[in-house]
Amino acid sequence: MDKYLKGKTALVTGAASGIGKAVALLYGQLGANVMLSDVNDALGRKVTEQMVSTGINAQFYKADVGDPVQCSLLVEKTVSAFGQLDMACNNAGIGGEMNQTADYSTEGWLKIINTNLNSVFYCLKYELQVMLKQNVAGSIVNMASILGQVGTAQAPGYVAAKHGVVGLTRTAALEYASRGIRINAVGPAYIDTPLLDQLPEEAKQMLTSLHPIGRFGTAEEVAELVIWLSSDKASFVTGSYYPIDGGYLAQ
Ligand code: NAI
Repeated sequence: MDKYLKGKTALVTGAASGIGKAVALLYGQLGANVMLSDVNDALGRKVTEQMVSTGINAQFYKADVGDPVQCSLLVEKTVSAFGQLDMACNNAGIGGEMNQTADYSTEGWLKIINTNLNSVFYCLKYELQVMLKQNVAGSIVNMASILGQVGTAQAPGYVAAKHGVVGLTRTAALEYASRGIRINAVGPAYIDTPLLDQLPEEAKQMLTSLHPIGRFGTAEEVAELVIWLSSDKASFVTGSYYPIDGGYLAQ
């Protein structure tokens, strides 16, 4: 594999599982130093150890992205471990409560907005501060969803959070484009990860039928897009929202 990310440092949140794990692995396989972070300490450490055993320069730092102080410490820790921050994938997220809007609990709403939207703001803010100080090119990819573009019943909090991630991405991209920092959002349709474990089998079958390609995506397919957006190969791409959805949004 051509190690074209050699010498660069990447930070990935929600790296213990699913999409974040696949993104962290691909950054590492392409030569980058990787800081993996997750609220799940045991799994995060295990995944990191596996990567290190294959020769990847990786470290793990436990952080809850819903807490701004922990996000700030995570970014600080990344820079102290590897000397710089070139790429970040703000990926951590949850599925959250499933209910119609009138029945949705206030606690559920606050939790999903904090975990899936406030978290991206916190990480982005501290990543930008470091990248601006370094004064070299940087690239940040925020994990949205197809539900950052369209709605779906029973998930008002998730949909609102992901629409927020897309708006935040566009705004920050405009602010820092002239400073050489590119910021983009990725919008996966349904991807076969533990996040979907909460769905009953019939719901999975119904959701599969919404993808013209006829299946859910894989975490590795999403990782390929994140890595492309992170790399210099996407040097003219910023402020964009890239669906990766097996045709879901084309209908
Ligand atoms: P996953 O459940 O496999 O992985 C999510 C990871 O985030 C877990 O390791 C979890 O411990 C971590 N996490 C959860 N809350 C956290 C917190 N407060 N602080 C730090 N880490 C936390 O899920 P998956 O599918 O890999 O999801 C990753 C991202 O992709 C999420 O933002 C999700 O909304 C998004 N996404 C997933 C889709 C899917 O169908 N799987 C579709 C579209 C977007």
